[in-house]
Amino acid sequence: MGISTKKRLSPADNAPLNVEDCISGFGLPRRFYTSTGIYENDIKNYWNCSWIWVGHITQVSKPGDFFVFDYSQESVIISRDREGQVNAFMNVCRHRGSRVCTEKSGSTRVFSCPYHAWTYELDGQLRSAREMGPEFDRRDYRLRQLHLRIFQGLIFVCAGDAPPDIEAGLQDIAPLIAPFNIENTKIAHHASYLVSANWKLAIENYMECYHCGPAHAEYSLSHSLKDPKSITPELISEMHRAGEIAGLPIQDFALNGSDVDMHFFCQRYPLYPGYVTGSKTGAPLAPLLGELKSYDGGTTDIQIGILNNFLAYSDHMIGYRFIPISLQETNIEVIWFVQKDALEGKDYIIEDLTWLWHVTSQDDEQIISLNQKGINSHYFTPGPLSEMEWGIRAFYQNYLRMV
Ligand code: FES
Ligand SMILES: [Fe+2]
Repeated sequence: MGISTKKRLSPADNAPLNVEDCISGFGLPRRFYTSTGIYENDIKNYWNCSWIWVGHITQVSKPGDFFVFDYSQESVIISRDREGQVNAFMNVCRHRGSRVCTEKSGSTRVFSCPYHAWTYELDGQLRSAREMGPEFDRRDYRLRQLHLRIFQGLIFVCAGDAPPDIEAGLQDIAPLIAPFNIENTKIAHHASYLVSANWKLAIENYMECYHCGPAHAEYSLSHSLKDPKSITPELISEMHRAGEIAGLPIQDFALNGSDVDMHFFCQRYPLYPGYVTGSKTGAPLAPLLGELKSYDGGTTDIQIGILNNFLAYSDHMIGYRFIPISLQETNIEVIWFVQKDALEGKDYIIEDLTWLWHVTSQDDEQIISLNQKGINSHYFTPGPLSEMEWGIRAFYQNYLRMV
């Protein structure tokens, strides 16, 4: 990519999106991470048209319960109505566009817009609007509804008119994660790590473990994924033997993404001997999830659509998402789940439960921000991807097809 000769602060910012500039097997060109136009296009055409994991069913357990999910300039309300149905709609008033709901979560009877008090039902229908004249039909002005899918207690939404088909992918992974009984978990902790980088750099970082050895000392003590050569047939067969006793379905081991449209991925890989879960000492952290009878010494990487990532140990699960805030600001959100009846302080200690992915996310915060700083240089040219970065190739394939 050449440097523009025009005297502007960010010469590449207005360059049109040109997929032809991307070289297969290499990183994306600079402007994919520096252009405001491409960023806005990403939100409009990629985030809005993908399934996004927004929360867990326990966040809307009773009629009237709601929470708000924000990404970039978009804001979505998820609520349970009086009939027990869970709904998702845009948090944008149909009168003159104000945000309707200003709370992050809670319980309510209606949503009332703070500007001129148009009032909406829990399913997004307009209930009342003052002084609108005889011609006004409130049925024409419900809050824009989103597609919603609940899968094993996880809530996904899609704002696009024609959401990508996820049913086949969900069916494939359903039996592999059923024993964790995610529906019967609860959120034990939620943390956000603000990274000074474009959202794609945060996702790319998650999609590869090429950086794990050099950047994550704590993770590398216990997780064999940091070095594929260390995942020996003996380690796998030991995990499978223990997995059969624990009640986990045994899956052929292959650390490769398949080239499918929505990129579903589910793979259990072994922790190093001495570790039964992602803890500091290797010891258990919480009661076993779901139907599991014992520990197998493994952890499952789960990807449900390209934007939504999970990691299931035998006694807790972690959900990851990368929320764009602005062109070069992204929130890495990490959410820890434990079995629903587990008691904090008795069955699990928050500091112990969150230790590994807290320190790992702090490392990531730093390396991803440095990545963006380097890419901002006009002298950056994308380099070749390693064999361990196959996940990034899958992400690029999906992303470039969508934009
Ligand atoms: S903008 Fe919501 S009532 Fe006017
Ligand atoms: Fe990392």
